[in-house]
Amino acid sequence: MRGIGLVGCGYITTLLRQGLRDAGGNLVATCDLNEENGKQVAAEFGAKYYKDYDEFLANKEIEAVIIAVPNYLHFQFASKAVEAGKMVFCEKPMTTNINDSLELVKLVQTHGKLFQVGYMKRFHPAFGQIKSKLASVGPILGATIKLFMATSARPDGKVDASKATWHSIPEKSGGGFLVHSASHSLDLMLYTFGIPKQLWGNVILDKAGNEYNINSFFLMPEGYFVHLQMAIVLVPRVGYQNTFWEETVEVIADKAIIRAEGSDWQGMLAPRLSIREHGKETSEIIQENAMSQWSGEFNAFLDGIAKNQCLGSSVIDGYRVDQIIDTMKTLTADQKIIDLNFLY
Ligand SMILES: NC(=O)c1ccc[n+]([C@@H]2O[C@H](COP(=O)([O-])OP(=O)(O)OC[C@H]3O[C@@H](n4cnc5c(N)ncnc54)[C@H](O)[C@@H]3O)[C@@H](O)[C@H]2O)c1
Repeated sequence: MRGIGLVGCGYITTLLRQGLRDAGGNLVATCDLNEENGKQVAAEFGAKYYKDYDEFLANKEIEAVIIAVPNYLHFQFASKAVEAGKMVFCEKPMTTNINDSLELVKLVQTHGKLFQVGYMKRFHPAFGQIKSKLASVGPILGATIKLFMATSARPDGKVDASKATWHSIPEKSGGGFLVHSASHSLDLMLYTFGIPKQLWGNVILDKAGNEYNINSFFLMPEGYFVHLQMAIVLVPRVGYQNTFWEETVEVIADKAIIRAEGSDWQGMLAPRLSIREHGKETSEIIQENAMSQWSGEFNAFLDGIAKNQCLGSSVIDGYRVDQIIDTMKTLTADQKIIDLNFLY
């Protein structure tokens, strides 16, 4: 079985590890500066632990590398892995800098190896069903993607860098809500509806200069709009299960209204899908196991390794998301319509 190495054994890897296990992945090595994290995950899989990334990459048993280090290290770690001839699964966002993103696209194209970005919502059962339904209920008249996160700790510009994790330091994370969370929604939009033609919107920044309130309209080639509304809100009981996270994709099509709700940040509670279809008396409500988005992305990765072909979010998808983020960061209240014909 193909050997997989994991670099960065922190918080998110609880889900990545479960997803990899479900998909039948063979983890042979871990790497982490934090020995406790790295060794603990290595022990779980009977894998070898490395502190040094170069030594880890030199292990010939490792054919593919999962990169789950902080965002600002993605480019450096991913480029090294690609140059070492490894296939790569890189957590989102692909990089924290648009120039690095393009460099990575070129590097992956030169080396011709599989590169997948960790936008797992493509494999979210409810969102996946929306995409598969669209062909039979169209044409699409309009769509909305909403993402609200409730927190009483909206950054106010007074982050104590000595206590903050890299997540809340923009130089390390790449930005605010747009980068951390809304990047998932942007990938979902590209996956579900395709590449938009134009953008109009407004992104409001907090005192620290990070995005927290995002309103935008994307014009699709067919003539309908996708409205993206995403914000950190100071509201309790957000989400249909009253967790702090609400995520909705709603499509109004000629013959159906389809609405999918993810229920919390990690989507670990059952997502809910409702379909009201022309000619059907009752609406269909479907709930499925949410863990399948993590196993789904690793099933795709392992299949991709066998075929050397990306079956998830590709390096180009990752770059397009980064291009849109880079553009959206400039949106102000008096923004004119922006042509998106520069999207890769
Ligand atoms: N897909 C998702 O929904 C999702 C959710 C959360 C986080 N993420 C992404 O996962 C990645 C990790 O996030 P996290 O929350 O687990 O962070 P974390 O800080 O909990 O874990 C990062 C790990 O990387 C290790 N590390 C740091 N520098 C290193 C280096 N130079 N060499 C080796 N190891 C090093 C740290 O010791 C730590 O164990 C980020 O890219 C983040 O954006 C994705």
